[in-house]
Amino acid sequence: MSVTVRVPAKVNVRLAVGAARADGFHDLANVFLAVGLYDEVTVTAADELRVTCEGPGSDQVPLDRTNLAARAAELLGARYGIAPDVHIHIAKDIPVAGGMAGGSADGAGALVACDALWGTGASQGELLDICAELGSDVPFSLVGGAALGTGRGEKLELLDVGGTFHWVFAVADGGLSTPAVYREFDRLTPHAPAPTASPALLAALRGGDAEALAAAVGNDLQPAALSLFPSLRDTLATGTAAGALAALVSGSGPTTAFLAGDAGSARRIAEALTASGTCRAARVAQAPAAGATVL
Ligand code: C5P
Repeated sequence: MSVTVRVPAKVNVRLAVGAARADGFHDLANVFLAVGLYDEVTVTAADELRVTCEGPGSDQVPLDRTNLAARAAELLGARYGIAPDVHIHIAKDIPVAGGMAGGSADGAGALVACDALWGTGASQGELLDICAELGSDVPFSLVGGAALGTGRGEKLELLDVGGTFHWVFAVADGGLSTPAVYREFDRLTPHAPAPTASPALLAALRGGDAEALAAAVGNDLQPAALSLFPSLRDTLATGTAAGALAALVSGSGPTTAFLAGDAGSARRIAEALTASGTCRAARVAQAPAAGATVL
């Protein structure tokens, strides 16, 4: 028997980052928006735990126990006394190491798939606790939609979204390490103030207002990502020149995100990005998208 779960990518429409904490993590006020680019995680009973992966960038995905999908199966199995003997197959469509929470999505997807396969009856709260143990962005991959993440990003408050937003994502040639981007943030921002959410941004999401959202987006990690990956400036400028209402680095990068006024504008921005040679690929996606869903 197999269970397949579809799980979305995310963009941080506003990522406010505070100073490093004693545990090395940073306090955040992180507004997540799930976008319609998906990985599919299929879990099948097997003789032992095994991970396989197909799709763009899958050669960079670790297939050992460091993969968040494998860790999700182990943590859920340990909690319920079930040997995590499953074959986890990941069909990748979310850019790998791109700042779009692809690895987190696979963790949340495997967790929901194993939970369904094993019939544990775990509550949403228990699943969210396991997600938080897996990584800061994993709880959001489970719930999808839009949410404000505080703490290290794992404490979620769900947000209302009053319309569809049209996005374009430029996939960079190469990846960025999240810890390295946070270290660069610390170097560039020795006295970061306590992070706060923006009321204007939350109102823009609630109203489904793309222009207001564009005026309120922001990413405190962007200077650090640009410092480590300077050519992203050219990608951002290309999308802006093609009509994007807003252009920003997604999370810790190096994927860049462009908010468009409508579907036609999104298509034109994607074409301009592709033609410019300033990125490896451009993807169009709508938001909000549902969280981890059993197919
Ligand atoms: O939680 P996750 O494993 O996704 O975090 C990856 C890395 O990103 C952490 O090891 C840390 O270096 C950095 N990070 C951080 N503050 C956060 C989230 C992540 O410094 N709130």
